[in-house]
Amino acid sequence: MAIKKIGILTSGGDSPGMNAAIRAVVRTATYYKMKAVGIRYGFQGVLEKNFWDMDTTDVRHVIQRGGTILGTARCLNFKEKTYQEQGVANLREAGIEGMIVIGGDGSFMGAKALSELNMPTIGMPGTIDNDLPYTDSTIGFQSALSTVVEAISRIRNTADSHRRTMVVEVMGRHSGNIAMYAGIASGSEIIMVPEMPLPITEIADRLTQFQDMGKNSSIIVVAEGSYNADIPDIGALTRRLIDLTGLEIKSNKLGYMQRGGAPAVEDRLLASRMGYHAVRLLLHGVGNRVVGSVQDEIIDEDIHKALSERRNFDFDMFEMARVLSGTMLPN
Ligand code: ADP
Ligand code: F6P
Repeated sequence: MAIKKIGILTSGGDSPGMNAAIRAVVRTATYYKMKAVGIRYGFQGVLEKNFWDMDTTDVRHVIQRGGTILGTARCLNFKEKTYQEQGVANLREAGIEGMIVIGGDGSFMGAKALSELNMPTIGMPGTIDNDLPYTDSTIGFQSALSTVVEAISRIRNTADSHRRTMVVEVMGRHSGNIAMYAGIASGSEIIMVPEMPLPITEIADRLTQFQDMGKNSSIIVVAEGSYNADIPDIGALTRRLIDLTGLEIKSNKLGYMQRGGAPAVEDRLLASRMGYHAVRLLLHGVGNRVVGSVQDEIIDEDIHKALSERRNFDFDMFEMARVLSGTMLPN
C-alpha cells in the first residue's frame, strides 16, 4: 500500500546530523509527492499532538546545523501500552500513515511499538554513541569523534606545558566506542572503556612507567560508563591515581559539548543517504525496518532483529590502541 503522509521525529539524545536526516526525509518525501509532518519533541510530541506540516522551505540550510530543529525528549510514558495506543490514534487522526524515528536503541523500542500497532515505522540511527549492532556507524558518531579529538589536542597543549597527566571523560553510558576511537586518533596513552575494565593499579603502574621513560604528559580517556561502586566518578578516579602515583593529575569532563556543533561531512552524507532510503521504503509500503550502513552501503534490517542483537566491542582494535600507545606493560 502506497503511503501518502509520513511523520518524522527525533528522540533520545540529540546528535549532529539529525537535521541533515530531517532535511533528507522532507525533501525525498516531497519529491515523491508525500506529505511530511514533523513531530516536535519526540514521542512526547506524538502524545501532545505537537505536529508541524513541513515543506522543503522548512529544511533550508539546516544540513550544517547541530542539534535537531524538531527538538527531542525523553518520554517515559511512551514505554506504556496505553500511551502507545493513544499515540497511534493521534497519528492516525492527523492522517499519518507511516513514521520515521531517528534516535538510539531506546527510541527504536518506541518505533517497534508503533510498528506493532500497525503504524509502519522506519528507524534511523541517530546517536553519538555508535552502540547499535546492525550498522557500522550512527549519525553523529563521526562528528562527536572530531569534537573530542579536537578537545583532547587542546588539553594536550596544557598537559605538555605543565608536565601533567590529564583525565578526560567522554560520553558513552554503555559503550566505549567514543573513548576508544578518539583515544586512538588523539594519541592518548590510556583508554578506559566499560567493555574492558582495567584495574586502577595497572593504570597507576603505567603512568609511573611513562614518567620513568621521560614522557612529558599523559592523557587518560575514560568513557563515563567505566566507573563502578569503588570509583564512581572522574573525581574519585583522579584522586585515586594521585594517591597511587604522586603525579600532578587534573580532570576534564567534556560533557554536552560532545553532542553539539556542526555535523562532520561523514554524518551529513550518512544522514542524507539514510533519509532518502528510509522514505523510499515507506513509499513502497515497507515498514518495521531500521536503516543502517554496512561497508559503506545503505541497508535495512528487521526492527525486531536489530533490537535483539548486541553490538560487539572491537577488542582487536582495543589491543591495537594499547600497542600504539607505545608504552604498554608486557602481558
Ligand atoms: P536513545 O534513543 O538515545 O537510546 P532513550 O533510551 O532515552 O534514548 O530513549 C528515548 C525515548 O524512546 C524514551 O524517552 C522513550 O520515549 C522511548 N522509549 C525508550 N524505551 C522504550 C520502550 N521500551 N518502549 C517504548 N518507547 C521507549
Ligand atoms: O545517548 C547519548 C548520550 O550522549 C550518552 O552517551 C550519555 O550518557 C547520554 O546521552 C546523556 O544524555 P542526557 O543527559 O541527555 O540524558
